[in-house]
Amino acid sequence: MSDIDLKKTLLQHLDSLRWSGLGDLPQTGALEFDFSDLEAAPDTQPAKPPQSPKSATEQAPAKVAAEPTPSKPTPAQPAPPTLLAEGDYGDVISDAGQRSAALKVIAEEVSACTKCAELCSNRTKTVFGVGSAEAKIVFLGEGPGANEDQQGEPFVGAAGQLLDKILTASSLSREQVYIVNVVKCRPPANRNPTDDEIKNCWNYLERQLEIIQPTHIVCLGSVAAKSLLNTKLSLGKMRKQWHQYRGSKVIVTYHPAYLLRTPTAKKHVWEDMKLLMAEFGVEL
Ligand code: URA
Repeated sequence: MSDIDLKKTLLQHLDSLRWSGLGDLPQTGALEFDFSDLEAAPDTQPAKPPQSPKSATEQAPAKVAAEPTPSKPTPAQPAPPTLLAEGDYGDVISDAGQRSAALKVIAEEVSACTKCAELCSNRTKTVFGVGSAEAKIVFLGEGPGANEDQQGEPFVGAAGQLLDKILTASSLSREQVYIVNVVKCRPPANRNPTDDEIKNCWNYLERQLEIIQPTHIVCLGSVAAKSLLNTKLSLGKMRKQWHQYRGSKVIVTYHPAYLLRTPTAKKHVWEDMKLLMAEFGVEL
């Protein structure tokens, strides 16, 4: 492992510990650390695409080296999926530019949508979604709050800042994933969206997911989980297991806004993120 990789790993680990609630750790400033520069540096990651996370074996060479040599050859393990699109989507759109263009068409429809009288008469901006049109991981929230309504972008307020920290601690960035809500307009006074509002907006989300084709979806909170999985189960019952939405594996975790009110739940989200990232060969 190069010095720069070692430093990055240590900084991430410290941030993960701090983020998950441990205090009295040295400040690293790693949350502002520009990981993308490091990933792109030719002498550190020569053969890798810029946003691909390290495989489990690359992250923990010492552990692997310390294991006894097996007497029998170990069966080949299937390679974990990378976070980059492989352009292998059969009859689905496989070109990044076409995907972005297709998303833009829906975004324009959304910006002119008048299906929910109360929501559209109160909105400043519709909040369509943000991130990579080729993301392997989609984070699904509930609906825009006041800041999102002003800026037209999901998760930019206090809950969004916490989501950013969760992403960073998980070796992810906003640019690498896609972030979207169940409803695209702010419900007044931050109330939950009604069943009718969710129904009215559903087709937009459905089409976004069809275009992006994520391998994994993370439901943030019970509104997202119940809507996507069409269930009435509580969030507690849905956590810690994989669900399915069409071709995507779905995991359910707490909403960052809930974590702001209940910081003790951060450790549960961290467990969920570990499960998620293990799918990509990333050990947190
Ligand atoms: N909460 C959400 O569910 N979505 C946002 O975009 C912001 C806050």
